[in-house]
Amino acid sequence: MAHRFDALTADVMRAGGTWKWSGQGVAGGTDRHGRGLIGAFVAEMDFPTAGPVADAVRASVDASRVGYLADAWVADMAAACSAFWTDRFGWTVDPARIRPVPDVMTALVATIEHFTPPGSPVLLPMPAYMPFLTVPGRLGREMVPVPMTTDPFALDLEALDAAFTSSGSRLLVLTNPHNPTGRLFTAEELAGVAEVVERHGARVFADEIHAPLTFDGRAHVPYASLSDVTAAHAITATSASKAWNLPGLKCGQVILSNSDDAATWAEHGYLAEHSTATPGVLATTAAYTHGRPWLDDVLSYLDGNRALLREASLPGVDAVVPEGTYLAWLDASGLGLDEPASAFFAREAGVVMTDGALCGGPGGMRLTLATARPVLAEALERMAAALPS
Ligand SMILES: Cc1ncc(COP(=O)(O)O)c(C=O)c1O
Repeated sequence: MAHRFDALTADVMRAGGTWKWSGQGVAGGTDRHGRGLIGAFVAEMDFPTAGPVADAVRASVDASRVGYLADAWVADMAAACSAFWTDRFGWTVDPARIRPVPDVMTALVATIEHFTPPGSPVLLPMPAYMPFLTVPGRLGREMVPVPMTTDPFALDLEALDAAFTSSGSRLLVLTNPHNPTGRLFTAEELAGVAEVVERHGARVFADEIHAPLTFDGRAHVPYASLSDVTAAHAITATSASKAWNLPGLKCGQVILSNSDDAATWAEHGYLAEHSTATPGVLATTAAYTHGRPWLDDVLSYLDGNRALLREASLPGVDAVVPEGTYLAWLDASGLGLDEPASAFFAREAGVVMTDGALCGGPGGMRLTLATARPVLAEALERMAAALPS
């Protein structure tokens, strides 16, 4: 049976003017065959956000709740987030330990600045979410890449251990579910990470922005929920922005899982919290509280898109079907191209993806699956037809 998202055409989305359908030359651009470009590079969904979210934004405007954030609105949002995390992931966090930030990026910056020794390097498993490669450098910190093992992608504990030793880093950036590989790390894998981190007296920035986006009946495991040890060395950042498609509303959450960190945040977190948007906080409360049916529907739709990718025939391209997130990693190194694969497929197939090199994974590409299924089908068909024979 057709789903309402099936009716979203590329033309409709181009007219919508989102970054995904206008940036990187997508607006007005064509491929070598004169076909319009398909935007598949941003981690954003093409689906209109949930009704309760839209209602909350409208209500915030109608009631002139567009001024500075009131404590009561923060408290409501924290309670809603806590209830969602308890129900969905089995981890109960005191709402008082959930603080607002505009976005996860701000939370990372605050974590580096206030929870690590001045000047200390930052460890980043590779490939990684693109901006994480450069944010430490912008703060005067060295970013130390730690390649993941491949086939399947996994965190390389020995490499992490060695990188902590050689760099003197005190912070690991741990994204789970993982962007761009789509891995959903298991409790056992995370426990292995915790051991290494603890051995080096280090911290974990647990980026769990994609937490609600998991498949095959598997639930996200919050890193800090594993044990007292992980709760003591983790700072968790999340947001409703990926699961309910509202990153422009500027509301994320920092979860402080020990009292020392809560005290540090109370002292230093003001600037990070300050840019959080009031309508975003109200919309986030609505998403966590009333947006679950919408989310479940989206997850089942995305699952269908995963199936489409699984069935696609792209000889020479190793497509990793994500366990979590709506991002697929495509390793095109088997094609032996003499140019970045993303450039090849943008020109030859009109599909605009994120080049793997930007994620620290040259030869790969990141494809966003969160679009109408007919659009994804067309993208995959065009890519198959473009393959060198
Ligand atoms: C893994 C991951 N972390 C962080 C971000 C950035 O999130 P925010 O917009 O909340 O800064 C993204 C956005 O795509 C992401 O995928």
